[in-house]
Amino acid sequence: MNGEIIERINQLRKERNAIIIAHNYQRGDVQDIADFVGDSLELSRKAAKIYADVIVFCGVHFMAETASILSPDKIVLLPDADAGCPMADMIDVDGLRKLKSEHPNAKVVCYVNSSAEVKAESDICCTSANATKIVASFPADQEIIFIPDQYLGHYAASQSGREVIPWHGYCPTHARIISPDIERMRQEHPNAKVVVHPECRPDVIELADEVASTSGILRFSQQDDVQEVIVGTEMGIIHRLQKENPSKKFIPISEKAVCPNMKRITLEKVLSSLENMAPEVKVPEDIRIRAQGAVDRMMEIN
Ligand code: 13P
Ligand code: SF4
Repeated sequence: MNGEIIERINQLRKERNAIIIAHNYQRGDVQDIADFVGDSLELSRKAAKIYADVIVFCGVHFMAETASILSPDKIVLLPDADAGCPMADMIDVDGLRKLKSEHPNAKVVCYVNSSAEVKAESDICCTSANATKIVASFPADQEIIFIPDQYLGHYAASQSGREVIPWHGYCPTHARIISPDIERMRQEHPNAKVVVHPECRPDVIELADEVASTSGILRFSQQDDVQEVIVGTEMGIIHRLQKENPSKKFIPISEKAVCPNMKRITLEKVLSSLENMAPEVKVPEDIRIRAQGAVDRMMEIN
C-alpha cells in the first residue's frame, strides 16, 4: 500500500518539478520520502535556495509561509491546511501593536513560529538555533520585545545576559515536559545524557546537560562520548536520531511530547497535494515584503 503511494509521489514530484522538505518532527515515513529533513532554520535556508517549481512542505503552517516569503515565485504546498502551530496562534498583530505602543523604543525579535503578519510587524526573526545570537546582536542598552515564546525568550535572555520583554506564549507540546520527567528518567537511565529543546520550561532547561534546536540535538547525539540520550523534545525526532545513530539508545523524555499538528501530514496527504496542487500557502505581497525584511535580517546575522 505505502509502496504504491510512494511510487506515485515519486512520479508526480518529477512531473511537477517538486521538492519535498520535512521538519525533524514529521512522521518517520514522511521523513523517509523527503528530499531534505531539517530544523526551522535549515528549512528556511533550503526554501530560499531551492531550484524547483513546487515546494511540498511537510511541517506546519508558519513553516510553509516562511518558504513562501522566501520563494514567492514558487508554489508552496502544505499537505494538510489545518496543520498549524498553537504557539504561533497565541499572538496576533493587534496584540503586538499594543505591546509595541507600551514600549515605543523597543525592537521586536520574533520567533519564526509566528504568522507572516506578525513577522511583518517585527524588526528581526530568530529560530531556536540562533535566538541567543540574535538577542545578543543588539546594543546592551536596547530594549527588546521577544515574541511569542516566553520560554525561548527567557533562555535567550539568560544566555546572552540581557533582559527581554516577553509575550506569554508557549508551545503546548514542550510545556507538557516537566522536571519530574527528567528526575525519573535520570534514575532509570543513569548513564544517559539529557538534551532538551529551548521551548521547554526554565526548570526543565536547568536540569538538562544540553539545550539545542532539533538539528542541534542531532549534532549533539553524533558525538562519540554520547551513547545514550534522553530526548526532551517532540518524539518524531527519535526516528532520525535512531536512523543516523543505529548503535545508540534514544529515550523519549515523556510519551506526552507529541505535536498533533506535525502528525497531521501523512503520505496519503503528500500524494493528494501533488495530485491536486493544493492546499497552497501564499502570503500577500505587501505582507510578504515586510516579513521578508525580518527574515533577511536574521539570515544576515546568522
Ligand atoms: P526547530 O527550529 O528546533 O526545528 O524547532 C521548531 C519547532 O517548532 C519546535 O517546536
Ligand atoms: Fe508549534 Fe510546539 Fe508543534 Fe513546534 S512542537 S510546531 S512549537 S506546537
